[in-house]
Amino acid sequence: MQLKRIYVDNFRNLCREEIQLNPGINIVLGKNAQGKTNFLEAIYILASATSPRTNIEQEMVAWENDYYFIKGEVESQDDTFAISVGYTQGKKRIRVNENPLERVKDLLGRFMVIFFGPEDLQLIKGSPQLRRQFLDREISLLQPLYYENLQRYRTVLAQRNNLLKEIGEKGIGESELEPWDEQLADLGGELITRRIRFLNELKEKINSRYAEISGEEVGFKAEYEPSIALDKKSSSQDWKRAFIEAWKRRRKEEIIRGVTILGPHRDDLSFRLGDRELKNYGSQGQQRTAVLALKIGELELMTQVKGEQPVLLLDDVFSELDGTRQKALLDLIGGNIQSIITTTENNFQEIKKPCYYFTVDKGKINRWEGRN
Ligand SMILES: Nc1ncnc2c1ncn2[C@@H]1O[C@H](COP(=O)(O)OP(=O)(O)OP(=O)(O)O)[C@@H](O)[C@H]1O
Ligand SMILES: [Mg+2]
Repeated sequence: MQLKRIYVDNFRNLCREEIQLNPGINIVLGKNAQGKTNFLEAIYILASATSPRTNIEQEMVAWENDYYFIKGEVESQDDTFAISVGYTQGKKRIRVNENPLERVKDLLGRFMVIFFGPEDLQLIKGSPQLRRQFLDREISLLQPLYYENLQRYRTVLAQRNNLLKEIGEKGIGESELEPWDEQLADLGGELITRRIRFLNELKEKINSRYAEISGEEVGFKAEYEPSIALDKKSSSQDWKRAFIEAWKRRRKEEIIRGVTILGPHRDDLSFRLGDRELKNYGSQGQQRTAVLALKIGELELMTQVKGEQPVLLLDDVFSELDGTRQKALLDLIGGNIQSIITTTENNFQEIKKPCYYFTVDKGKINRWEGRN
């Protein structure tokens, strides 16, 4: 899969830019704060209609303006199509070949990308929210229905939380919770089983990538850590029943706190090397290798599911990695994949394949012929 060209208008500090990309390696050079990440963010939005950096659309509109617009031409194995995403006055408009799409879900899965930036290196040590976000984003691209269930889960969760507060404050009957429990548990069961399946699908891949990059043979694992104890092989119906039971048992506490204390919105992921938690025992290098193995594993999974490689977006990660880990990435981009790589230093001379170079300066992107 490849992005052939992209047009960005009023997107953050990118004013009006039209760029034609190389089907292989694209290197985007620029000093700090010139617009490199903004450019990759715009590409990511063509894939998912959402940003990897923020949930607030208005943040992405160029200052002093009232809209942003991004359009790209994508070539996949059997089709060439145009995607556009625009935002103005609280409304997002998504089109594929000029046909409006009603929901984000309808866009997902058409243009596949993997985004890898410095924040990803926090995945192991950072907050559980970061790890849930990772699961939610990646699974949504692979399975649009998951995205839809997730949005519904969030809506029902907010409603249930409101009701819990009202019960606490106004003494409304607890039986009012039942229909919400039913709905939330139903959606929760779907989300959890899909997350566990995703991790199972990644299992072999990330373990072999880790071993390959590090030369360690200890066994790298990512495990789902649900907020209620239940066998991971359970069906979504089993999870549903378990949630309803667990919420009943903790009802008093939930009413006092006014929030739903158990469910996929509270779950986590743990990464282990052998029996040890990487979060607690892993060196910084091991944690980086783990994230790299995870990203490459994901790319392989996407390729397997979609039958072609996604586009790889690398946001200034080379500088964060040492020689062996850089080599793992270089091997990947040297293959048959389109990559768009941002960097502050042009240290890609060793790449043997022909590359397109671009420079970004104060939001202006230009093709650059020289390589020094
Ligand atoms: N909505 C916006 N409108 C205009 N400019 C914005 C907007 N949002 C962010 N910016 C500016 O865009 C500039 C470039 O940001 P970006 O994150 O792309 O930098 P970068 O080139 O990736 O830098 P670094 O190397 O530090 O990561 C920043 O100076 C930021 O203040
Ligand atoms: Mg950046």
